[in-house]
Amino acid sequence: MSDYKIRNKCGICSSTDLISILNLGKQPPANSLIDDLTLLSQEVKFPLRLGFCKNCCFVQLLDIVNKEFLFKNYLYMTSGSKPIVQHFNKYAKDIHDDFLKNDNESTVLEIGSNDGSLLLEFKKLGCKILGIEPAQNLAKLANELNISTQNSFFSSNVAKEIIKSKKISVVVANNVVGHIEDLHDFMNGIKILIGNDGIFIFEVPYLNDLIKKLEFDTIYHEHLSYFSLLPIINWVNQYELEIFDIKKQSVHGGTIRVFITKKGNIPQKNSVKTFLNEEHNYGLDKIETYEKFAQNVLNLKSKLLKKIMELKSENKSIIGYGAPAKGNVLLNYCNIDHKIIDFIIDTTPLKQGKFTPGTHIPIYHPSKMENKGSNDVSLLLAWNYKNEILENEKLFRDRGGKFLIPIPEPTII
Ligand code: TYD
Repeated sequence: MSDYKIRNKCGICSSTDLISILNLGKQPPANSLIDDLTLLSQEVKFPLRLGFCKNCCFVQLLDIVNKEFLFKNYLYMTSGSKPIVQHFNKYAKDIHDDFLKNDNESTVLEIGSNDGSLLLEFKKLGCKILGIEPAQNLAKLANELNISTQNSFFSSNVAKEIIKSKKISVVVANNVVGHIEDLHDFMNGIKILIGNDGIFIFEVPYLNDLIKKLEFDTIYHEHLSYFSLLPIINWVNQYELEIFDIKKQSVHGGTIRVFITKKGNIPQKNSVKTFLNEEHNYGLDKIETYEKFAQNVLNLKSKLLKKIMELKSENKSIIGYGAPAKGNVLLNYCNIDHKIIDFIIDTTPLKQGKFTPGTHIPIYHPSKMENKGSNDVSLLLAWNYKNEILENEKLFRDRGGKFLIPIPEPTII
């Protein structure tokens, strides 16, 4: 099966001392929504296991699905989520103020620029911009909005081409480094792009939050890596690069923003030591931490299913709120399908009218909630937007509708 392979050595240190720490069963790719139920025979599933490198503590997937298969036509659009657009607005301002105030000549390059939402914020601030985006549909969309975007996967060869015609001062990559299979070619490309004085800034969900808040549903085939600071240091050191700062962000259930430059270019801030100490104190470098996590995930599954069966026995109808990739992991892992959930609502136009992979639940526009109320419970699959969704669905709640928040502990509110 050429669409899938098993990882047998660590993506950062190449050690073969990799062990499985969590098995989420066979799952369809979490974003592979189904257009039409007559196409079900084409649905594919792959094993989904999380591994830990005993040598360098890097947490990574053991099951790798071909990237062409996962990313060529991508439904996730950053502009679809208001909190992300707000995050990008502040993000661009902060980076501009800290690094780009006196630089009108060089370009901000974004790897995995999606529909161009972040680059648009840089453009508004007067920066030159360029996006690299592998999904054809998204690159086309961004170009139509005048966000200059190259439709390709990023690689060191792409980096070599770019610097022939452009000086790059800042490279950003949001929620994309975890998708990269060849981390070494990637960092080599970064080194080429940023040269002696450029900066690379990336944001990834933080492993510490994943473990603490039991965000197991953020583990899926697109996310090959689950970062803590310790392995990142090992990784960038191999390229004579250095982390000079790290900051916590609240998006995506807990994210880190990591700042990298050529070794010696910018003095390292205390934040780096502080993060390393916290990770050590929490045990991110110990296998026992992950064994406990896996047991907690199993317990969560039993509790959630028990709660749902209780609601069903009270004749409540259950709907799903949000059709994020993570929702599909949770539904598939817990075997919650179209027989249990009537439908899911989601604000993303591209997702409406489709069906969830593996569980075959129809996805509708939020207007479907209009008749819902006291007899209904909405399973919050997009838990990362809890505040916004509860606010948007005030009328549903006023009519007596309840939300079931699945993680870290199934809770009805
Ligand atoms: P996202 O955070 O992108 O998660 P993932 O990375 O796991 O795919 O997905 C959030 C989903 O929730 C997205 O499909 C849009 C949807 N959504 C709503 O339906 N209503 C809302 O109010 C918000 C904020 C998001």
